[in-house]
Amino acid sequence: KSPDLSHTTPLIIGHRGAAGEAPENTLASFQLALTHGANALELDINESADGALIVCHDHTVDRTTDGSGYIHQLTALEIGRLDAGSWFGESFAGERVPLLADVFAAIPADIMINVEVKCAYSPRLSAELQRLLSEFGRLDTAVISSFSHKTLYRLKQDRPELRVGLLYVGDFIDHSRLAELSGMEVYSLHPYYLSMDADDVAQAVSQGLQVYPYTINEPEQLQRAVEAGFSGIITDYPARLREILETRSR
Ligand code: G3P
Ligand code: MG
Repeated sequence: KSPDLSHTTPLIIGHRGAAGEAPENTLASFQLALTHGANALELDINESADGALIVCHDHTVDRTTDGSGYIHQLTALEIGRLDAGSWFGESFAGERVPLLADVFAAIPADIMINVEVKCAYSPRLSAELQRLLSEFGRLDTAVISSFSHKTLYRLKQDRPELRVGLLYVGDFIDHSRLAELSGMEVYSLHPYYLSMDADDVAQAVSQGLQVYPYTINEPEQLQRAVEAGFSGIITDYPARLREILETRSR
């Protein structure tokens, strides 16, 4: 029997699901990540013309579906008709672009979901995100991250209980100061993985921050990241990280 790693440090955070092995940001990808031992998921959202929260990394559907166009110019219905699996492999034909609501409904409530906001702040976005988090009881098990710290700031002003995570690139001397400078209570830091060593991680963790670096895929880099003490690791290959953690816990 494999060891119980459901509450491990680091969390195994499936990037866009298991984007190395399934079409990113689809339910198939999220389910595969869980099958491969992920206990958390990262996904990206954009806003459709009619205000639905669409799980898709790019601002257009061109790369990851058989359709084309900007998400903010398409309705949820139009996006829902697209094939989001065939581009990756024929065995995934018919996969859909999920709504954030679909993912919240499909994924067990104890799986942490990191929702990365790719679209701009608007009161409509904020209201819809809050509605979904409340409806699905996800306020405590979702972390909202963005490269736009201003977007996070505004979302958190609207709903102070939100857990927010700062995404960034930069080799800062003191990463935890970023959280202080943001002017809001920050739950987690999401640095580019090469910008933090074990001392940086220890410093941030001692300030009460979770640290979730992105995106680590090579086994040697995953091994190094585990040793550095990150709180969670964002990877396209949850199975690889799982294997490293299982080997360590034996
Ligand atoms: O959230 C971590 C990572 O996904 C940020 O970059 O471009 O893969 O969304 P990107
Ligand atoms: Mg992302």
